[in-house]
Amino acid sequence: MEANMPKRKEPGKSLRIKVISMGNAEVGKSCIIKRYCEKRFVSKYLATIGIDYGVTKVQVRDREIKVNIFDMAGHPFFYEVRNEFYKDTQGVILVYDVGQKDSFDALDAWLAEMKQDLGPHGNMENIVFVVCANKIDCTKHRCVDESEGRLWAESKGFLYFETSAQTGEGINEMFQTFYSSIVDLCENGGKRPVTNSSASFTKEQADTIRRIRNSKDSWDMLGVKPGASRDEVNKAYRKLAVLLHPDKCVAPGSEDAFKAVVNARTALLKNIK
Ligand code: GTP
Ligand code: MG
Repeated sequence: MEANMPKRKEPGKSLRIKVISMGNAEVGKSCIIKRYCEKRFVSKYLATIGIDYGVTKVQVRDREIKVNIFDMAGHPFFYEVRNEFYKDTQGVILVYDVGQKDSFDALDAWLAEMKQDLGPHGNMENIVFVVCANKIDCTKHRCVDESEGRLWAESKGFLYFETSAQTGEGINEMFQTFYSSIVDLCENGGKRPVTNSSASFTKEQADTIRRIRNSKDSWDMLGVKPGASRDEVNKAYRKLAVLLHPDKCVAPGSEDAFKAVVNARTALLKNIK
């Protein structure tokens, strides 16, 4: 049996699982858990000190699941406390604040911390990850849009939900899908079930969308040198159009990326003799 397979009391019926929360300080990890378990929201920030632990019971299909939740502190100061708790986990709630780009950019570092603490024998493939793009109620301050978050999550085979612990939006759906995926994983012999989305676009498509999003001008977007010829521009355009055409590419953000490439080509060709 895999190291992080959950303890099963009665085969086919009850399950005990361990889930942890991860993400920068103040992104709303504790509030998401509180909203689900206690149906309430606390607006005052009470930083988690080290780890908070709780147990809850949920029903998934014919199974009763006993969930041990370890809510981690996001502050770097608590690294030493956190690293005790990564092992034997079946599910991770990975949270960022849609109004804090840093917290989104930090997701890779959170995965790296977990991977390092699990050591060379730890297997992240046997864990269900759900990414929560939290605080979507704060629309004015939003700086990480849905397609950017979804692209990051789905290109890794993770679930993705837009949530607000304040209004409750997305919270129940997120937990239901999360727990049901963990049950699927247990019934699948400890292997993460392949999601439709993760199988439906390539790494090249995901990387290209990200590159286009971060490009500084039209030349850069098409991946040609400033002053390139019409032929070079058209060649680069055709390659990107094939890769990102909405009929061919279902990666989040592909439609916008495709439109941006069309516009970049039009703008460049206007000025090239
Ligand atoms: P650490 O325990 O320090 O790692 O932080 P945390 O990620 O657990 O954050 P916590 O849940 O304590 O929330 C931080 C602050 O964000 C609090 O003031 C919450 O009220 C607020 N907050 C959390 N979720 C939301 C949300 O969905 N919308 C809004 N507007 N505020 C939120
Ligand atoms: Mg907390």
